Amino acid sequence: MCSINIDDINFDTPILQIVSRKNVPLKFSQCNFQNYIPDKKYPTQMRAKEQLMAFKQKMEDFNSKKRCCSKTLNKLFKINKKPNNVYIDGVFGVGKTHLLSSIGNKYKGKAIFISFSELMYLIAYFDLLSVVEEMSKFQIVLLDEFELDDPGDAMMGINFVRELSKTDSVIVTTSNTTPTSLGGRKFDMMVFKERIGKLINYFDIILIDGKDYRIEEKPNIQKSQSNLKKLFQQYKTKNRKKLYVTFDDLLKKLRSVHPVRYINFNNTIDAIFIENLRKFTDDELLDALRFSYLTDVLYYGDVDIFISSKIDLWHMFSEDLRDGKFKNKISRCISRISEKGLFIEL
Ligand SMILES: Nc1ncnc2c1ncn2[C@@H]1O[C@H](COP(=O)(O)OP(=O)(O)OP(=O)(O)O)[C@@H](O)[C@H]1O
Ligand SMILES: [Mg+2]
Repeated sequence: MCSINIDDINFDTPILQIVSRKNVPLKFSQCNFQNYIPDKKYPTQMRAKEQLMAFKQKMEDFNSKKRCCSKTLNKLFKINKKPNNVYIDGVFGVGKTHLLSSIGNKYKGKAIFISFSELMYLIAYFDLLSVVEEMSKFQIVLLDEFELDDPGDAMMGINFVRELSKTDSVIVTTSNTTPTSLGGRKFDMMVFKERIGKLINYFDIILIDGKDYRIEEKPNIQKSQSNLKKLFQQYKTKNRKKLYVTFDDLLKKLRSVHPVRYINFNNTIDAIFIENLRKFTDDELLDALRFSYLTDVLYYGDVDIFISSKIDLWHMFSEDLRDGKFKNKISRCISRISEKGLFIEL
């Protein structure tokens, strides 16, 4: 059977198995420094690539020297200084996650890739120090999309950086701000510096500028009568299954499963077909956040997303939600559906 029912997806994977997943997500599994092609018009792209390649080498040297010299000797003579953490800041879609994944795919030691949202869920599920202990088993923590807009989460992220910096692990993180409707984007760096305070001394900052590839691309929206069911039947799966689900059944499931377990969709399906998506209203913030987190997870897992709806993609969230505290998460969700999915306006 190449299709699966939502109730037959196994969400009971032991939490430790989820935490110990350390691979770069499927969407970025083929990324490496060679296939990151810097745009000559923006020299910071080549510079970023070189700096990150050098960082990877430094980490490999640091860890191989650590193996042959004792800790006390190292401390005494400072012969093997731990490399700084790295903060990669750059406009939308210039390949920050591509470069982050290149480190993960090519590093000769232990590295873990985790998104900031995933980290927040883990800390909420366990507690900060247990998560730090787990993460300190890795030489590099690749932390994608450090979120600064929610002060609570930002503070938790900063505490995580502080605690992990006491170990031999090093963090490489990327910025998260989404563009304005005009395609402009202010750099996060200043906000990051301000929020992170003295810890900034433990960071090297790499700035990447360039063209926002998504603004130029036409979103994948069909105003056709194509029937979602028909598309579902025609869809050829690769090595996972396909899922057809009504919007209401999907929301019901999302409410009943802890978001940390949404990753199980990626273990199971190549494509999701969501029937009759309706607008998220002002008092449905939690559902809207669950749904946008799901799209983040599916995006990383390279899962194709097909949606039918009576409203258009840009209006699937109420204005208050789009402009509210979580506007970054919400606009990222819209952007990712427009890139990775097909939206059928009924
Ligand atoms: N210079 C490049 N060379 C090759 N591929 C690139 C380059 N820049 C981006 N890409 C590809 O474009 C896609 C988007 O890049 P990526 O997701 O890494 O950008 P990003 O800066 O992390 O974006 P966002 O701000 O949305 O997180 C990926 O598939 C990536 O492999
Ligand atoms: Mg990214």
